[in-house]
Amino acid sequence: MSYVIRIPRIAAICCFPAFVFTSPANFSNFASLQPEVLYMTRALELAQKGKGHTSPNPMVGAVLVNEGRIIGEGWHHIYGQAHAEVDCLNNVAAADKHLIAGSTMYVTLEPCAHTGKTPPCADRLVVEKIGKVVIANKDPFELVSGRGIDILKNTGIDVVTGVCEAEGQWVNRRFFTFHQQKRPYIVLKWAQTTDGFIAPEDRSRSQITNGQSNRLVHKWRTEEAAIMVGATTAINDDPQLTARLWAGKQPLRIAISRNANIPSTHHLFDNSAETWIINEDKDDIINTVRYIQLSFGDQLLNEVMALLHQQKLTSLIVEGGAALLNSFINAGLWDEARVFTGNKEIGSGLTAPQLTNSTNTLTTHLNDDRLEVFVNKISPYPYTTGMEL
Ligand SMILES: NC(=O)c1ccc[n+]([C@@H]2O[C@H](COP(=O)([O-])OP(=O)(O)OC[C@H]3O[C@@H](n4cnc5c(N)ncnc54)[C@H](OP(=O)(O)O)[C@@H]3O)[C@@H](O)[C@H]2O)c1
Repeated sequence: MSYVIRIPRIAAICCFPAFVFTSPANFSNFASLQPEVLYMTRALELAQKGKGHTSPNPMVGAVLVNEGRIIGEGWHHIYGQAHAEVDCLNNVAAADKHLIAGSTMYVTLEPCAHTGKTPPCADRLVVEKIGKVVIANKDPFELVSGRGIDILKNTGIDVVTGVCEAEGQWVNRRFFTFHQQKRPYIVLKWAQTTDGFIAPEDRSRSQITNGQSNRLVHKWRTEEAAIMVGATTAINDDPQLTARLWAGKQPLRIAISRNANIPSTHHLFDNSAETWIINEDKDDIINTVRYIQLSFGDQLLNEVMALLHQQKLTSLIVEGGAALLNSFINAGLWDEARVFTGNKEIGSGLTAPQLTNSTNTLTTHLNDDRLEVFVNKISPYPYTTGMEL
C-alpha cells in the first residue's frame, strides 16, 4: 500500500535560539492527526537532530510504537555511526524489549539493504521481528533503492511508504539532489542594503547585517559541505569562510580565481580548513590548499559541481559576490536562496543579484534584519510550510 499525507501546519522550531518559525496552527492540532502522520512527524523531527553531522549520509529518524505507545526513538547522529533504526532499537528500555517483536517502526527513509559502515538495517528489523514498517521516502541511493523494502516484504513484514513524503524530501533535499541530480544542493546567500546593494561603490568590505544574522550564517556554514566565493570577494574582503560563531564541521572553502592571484597572506591560506582554488593555471597542493586547474569556459560551474559530486560533497553555500551569484542564477544552477536585508541605505554601490524563477517560501526577522528564503521554482523538493530550514 502506498499513500501520501500532507503534513498539517505545525510549529517548526529551528535550534537557533531566537530564530523561530511559527505557522498559524500549533501543536494542539496533533490531536487530530492520523497516527501515521503523527509518528512520522516525530521521526522527521528526530532526523533533523543529525543536521550538519551525517553527510554524505541522509538525516534519518525512527520511532517504534507498540499499541499506541512510543517505546523507542532514535536518529542517525553522525556519519559512520548507528543508523536511526538501530539507534531506536538500542534505546528501547529493558522493561519494554519484549514488546519490540510485532511493534510498528516509523522511519523517515527506507531501511538500508547493503553493508556500508554498518550492517543492513532491513536485516536487523527482520531479526527483531518488527510487525510493520512505515516509511516516508524510498532511498534514491542505487545500492538501496527498493531493496530494503523488498527484504522486509519478503519476510512478511507489512510495509507502508509515502507517509509525509514531501516533508521527508525537504529534510533530505541535499541527499536527494546529490543522488538524483548528481551534484550538490546549492544554497545562494547574500546580504543587501534596504536600497538593494551588496557592497559600496569602492567594493570595500561593509557589514550589512546584525550580529544575530551573522551567527545564523555561521550555523548554516556548519550544515553545508562546501562554501564558495568569487575572486574579487576573496581578494578584497579577505574572508575566513569558517564557522566561528557556531560549533560544528568546517565546510570546504572554495574560491574561483582564474589567475590564482589571491595574496598568500590572506585567510584562505591559513590552513584552518581545507581549501580549493579553482584556477586556469595549475594543479598543486600546498598544505590544506588544493589548486585545481579547469578551463574557464561556460561549463566551469558544472565542472566544479561534478568535482564536488565526485568528492561526495552533498551541498554548497555560495556567499558572493554579485558576479559569482549571478553566474549561478543565470545558469539556473541553484536550489535555495537566503537573502538578508539590513536596515542601512547606501545610495549607490554594487547591485544585489536578482533571482529569476523563484518562489518566496518564508520571510522572517532577526531584530532589524529581514531574512527571505526562496526556492527555485523547478526544484523537485519544494518547501513545505512549517518545516525547518
Ligand atoms: N553583501 C554580501 O552578501 C556580499 C557577499 C560577498 C561579497 N560581497 C561584496 O561583493 C564585492 C565583490 O563582488 P563582485 O561581484 O565584484 O565579485 P565576485 O563575485 O566576488 O568575484 C568575481 C570574480 O570571480 C571570478 N568569477 C566569479 N564567477 C565566475 C564564473 N562563473 N566564471 C569565471 N570566473 C568567475 C572572476 O574573477 P577572475 O577572472 O579573477 O577569476 C570574477 O571577476 C565585494 O565588494 C564584496 O565585499 C558582498
